[in-house]
Amino acid sequence: MTVAPEEGLVVEGLRKRYGDHTAVDGVSFALAPGSSLALVGESGSGKTTTVRMLVGLERPDGGTVRLDGRDRSTRPRGRAERLARAREIQMVFQDPYLSLDPRVTVSGCLDEVLRLHTGLDQGARRTRVAELLDQVGLGAREASALPRGLSGGQRQRVAIARALAVEPRVLVLDEAVAALDVSIQAQILELLATIRRESGIGYLFVTHDLAVVRHIADEVLVLKSGQVVETGPTARVLEAPEHPYTRLLLDSVPRRGRRPADR
Ligand SMILES: Nc1ncnc2c1ncn2[C@@H]1O[C@H](COP(=O)(O)OP(=O)(O)OP(=O)(O)O)[C@@H](O)[C@H]1O
Ligand SMILES: [Mg+2]
Repeated sequence: MTVAPEEGLVVEGLRKRYGDHTAVDGVSFALAPGSSLALVGESGSGKTTTVRMLVGLERPDGGTVRLDGRDRSTRPRGRAERLARAREIQMVFQDPYLSLDPRVTVSGCLDEVLRLHTGLDQGARRTRVAELLDQVGLGAREASALPRGLSGGQRQRVAIARALAVEPRVLVLDEAVAALDVSIQAQILELLATIRRESGIGYLFVTHDLAVVRHIADEVLVLKSGQVVETGPTARVLEAPEHPYTRLLLDSVPRRGRRPADR
């Protein structure tokens, strides 16, 4: 019998304490390559803390994070391993304005990432920058613009292009469309869906918006006080929630095409 190598992201018993408060309390889940998982839960339930541990912005107090069988929970051995880990899981934040350098143009920003993470020469980088901009639907005008010269939706496209530049295995999006108005949100979600189909990148989507969950996620994981209370395929969890807390979450947001009185 041949055993398939473990593929994708596997999180087991992840734990984080701040003082005597346990923010993340034994969270486990798996994300297969090319699949999409939404992390939902009320404010303070530990969603951001969980994903910050995955990308390496926080050190877990317990548990393991493995990507394609490689352990990411241990301290990286040297710069090469640190960079490799940074490439593998990329994060897109709610407000790209905070993570984009206001003095660097869009193409300059993408070029910087390619210089740090790839061995491409200047010509190859220029080609790749054009490819990335095209992939996220930005053109020459945006390429030479500074962040402040872009709309919120365009800035989020830049943030996505920057994440894609290093060819990650997993993209973590923490409320990445929450600040955008609904029609721009729909465009960005459409773009993300296309990228996922074409690239096979796995998505971990933190959101409080169940319309977004329905649109983007294959599976949902519900967090409450740092613990997983329910997980399953999106349609099943949204249509037939098993845990009372999930039902509470669903009832606390207006559903598209349904007035509160209809429930
Ligand atoms: N750096 C920190 N120091 C102390 N406590 C923290 C820190 N970061 C998070 N916490 C606490 O951990 C808990 C989980 O916070 P977290 O940011 O993960 O919640 P969240 O689910 O992302 O909430 P939101 O939906 O509001 O973004 C909260 O009680 C929060 O106050
Ligand atoms: Mg958060």
